[in-house]
Amino acid sequence: EKGGYASFMLKEIAEQPKAIADTLLGRIDGSGTLSLDEVRIPAEVLREVDKVVVVACGTAFHAGLIAKYAIEHWTRVPCEVELASEFRYRDPILDQRSLVVAISQSGETMDTLMALRHAREQGARVLAICNTNGSTIPRESDAVLYTHAGPEVAVASTKAFLTQLVACYLVALYLGQVRGTKYGDEIRDVVRDLSRISGAVEQVLETMTPVRELARSLAHKNTVLFLGRHVGHPVALEGALKLKELAYMHAEGFAAGELKHGPIALIEEDLPVVVVVPSPRGRSVLHDKIVSNIQEIRARGARTIVIAEEGDEAVAPYADHLVRVPATPTLLQPLVATVPLQVFACELATARGNEVDQPRNLAKSVTVE
Ligand code: F6R
Repeated sequence: EKGGYASFMLKEIAEQPKAIADTLLGRIDGSGTLSLDEVRIPAEVLREVDKVVVVACGTAFHAGLIAKYAIEHWTRVPCEVELASEFRYRDPILDQRSLVVAISQSGETMDTLMALRHAREQGARVLAICNTNGSTIPRESDAVLYTHAGPEVAVASTKAFLTQLVACYLVALYLGQVRGTKYGDEIRDVVRDLSRISGAVEQVLETMTPVRELARSLAHKNTVLFLGRHVGHPVALEGALKLKELAYMHAEGFAAGELKHGPIALIEEDLPVVVVVPSPRGRSVLHDKIVSNIQEIRARGARTIVIAEEGDEAVAPYADHLVRVPATPTLLQPLVATVPLQVFACELATARGNEVDQPRNLAKSVTVE
């Protein structure tokens, strides 16, 4: 059933291009118009929405953090992202004009379920993004957009995460479409870019041998840090989470701009630091800033592992290890940049003798609060 792979996790990493394509299937037509019939929340209601609140846990929360960038950019509707386990305890401000997006692979996560129940009690509409047909979270929501990742067996989430991202982009674009934001042309371009993205993920998967070798060579390390800016920040958090849960290592993700406010004190000789670099095209300010962050940590002895777009030559002199990903629009980069981090964690954990499909102390769905 592992289809020749050493673990379900490796199999599920390899299935990501298909999972992405399946999640897009039938939802975008040839002219770049989205049709999300499942989202049964009427267009009039979506037009009145004045706030989006995303609630989720763990990896799904990281998808939510990325959703915020897309939703605010494409719709100009304010978006908050909150850990489901914290949400209802702080008396969040919600009403009929709030759209709550609950993201969950299993559809059974108790923290997320309790958050959405609380949201509905306050009159908010709840849209679930879920991978499991007929599970509790979609049943209790006003509408559901299913991710089509197929069953995810490995405890650590991989293909579900990428399809959650796709679903978040679709929701953001759909909101933009329904509300007729001034970014209509950009939306059509992104729809086109999204339809090519599964090929880009396939390309990343074909170039993972050096990442595997690097991971094995770092198996004796105690700490790995991850840095990113903009949507690269949640990618860094996700890379660190994968390494914690699979390799049982100290791994932390930071916003690169925060380095100088404390974390840079952690940098010491030969400490591996993974840096997710945004595209040099478009938001070039972001790119320049991260190049100087890489220089700062390297000057202090860090071993830099740089994930950067093909053709980005500016980072090359500062990268001890350079991992190339295909060029994508900035907002979509997490779909390609996360893949090397999944492979890295899986290989490093295996090299440490860990059981990657069943990490210690973890369960696939967390049905207690
Ligand atoms: C990490 C992981 C967990 C889940 C989290 C939410 O690899 O799998 O962090 O993402 O427990 O689970 P779902 O998405 O089922 O609500």
